[in-house]
Amino acid sequence: MTNVIDGKAVAAALRLRVAERAAAFAARAGRPPGLDVVLVGEDPASQVYVRNKGRACEEAGMRSAIHRLPADTTQDALSALLDRLMADEAVDGVLVQLPLPAHLDERAVLARIEPSKDVDGFHPANVGALWLGREALVPCTPWGCVRLLDHAGVKLEGARAVIVGRSNIVGKPMAALLIQRSATVTVAHSRTRDLAELCAEADVLIAAVGRAKLVGADWVKPGAAVIDVGINRDAEGKLVGDVDFAAVAPKAGAITPVPGGVGPMTIACLLENTVRAAWRRAGYGALDL
Ligand code: GUN
Repeated sequence: MTNVIDGKAVAAALRLRVAERAAAFAARAGRPPGLDVVLVGEDPASQVYVRNKGRACEEAGMRSAIHRLPADTTQDALSALLDRLMADEAVDGVLVQLPLPAHLDERAVLARIEPSKDVDGFHPANVGALWLGREALVPCTPWGCVRLLDHAGVKLEGARAVIVGRSNIVGKPMAALLIQRSATVTVAHSRTRDLAELCAEADVLIAAVGRAKLVGADWVKPGAAVIDVGINRDAEGKLVGDVDFAAVAPKAGAITPVPGGVGPMTIACLLENTVRAAWRRAGYGALDL
């Protein structure tokens, strides 16, 4: 029987643990952990994500604020807001929702977020720390994938892992995390030759390309763990992943559905990162989560 990994349930359990730590932080610090989210422009998907992040924060007993800026916001105006958030002691985490409008310099924006408040783990200092195997704030989506694999009891040590997608948000940090866990990692992408054959050798297959139902049954080794990071709309407007779930599920050893797989974990891991950031900034020592 295929193990369909229930991301919603795993995320709910993590959110409960985060809420406990948030309450402990509030009792000690005299204020709850706080996350500030910045959204520039009106991208409909981003609006939904940001709203969900804010709501999840409040459900976990954390303070959240959403800063909505118009699509024509200047680099200087965005920098000024970020500087204000960096200087505010009650702000533990800051997240700038991506993608940004094309006229804004994403690299400069992400570099302006202090590494200690960088709950997305996108600042070069956190990216470097991750690759060096040092403690860091880790990008939420790949971190959530690792937590799901652990929950499903998938052995990573010595496993052949193939990641399809080389983005800074998912593919690259996913590679760093899996290497850290002693998997043998291949990062594939749109130019990779013989992609289906390569994927079919994977014990752990991570699909993060943004192509609806790209991964079919012949791409998957029997018994493999398949993690689907994709969020796409099919021709009928239905939410589907990068994996053809109906075709692949009977063959996989474990698989995440879309929706209800990786998505809920991304948000739970964002809450985790925010509590971690608050804990560390306050100097409260190690946080077990
Ligand atoms: N856009 C899509 N995924 C993410 C994410 O994890 N963080 C941010 N900031 N923007 C995103």
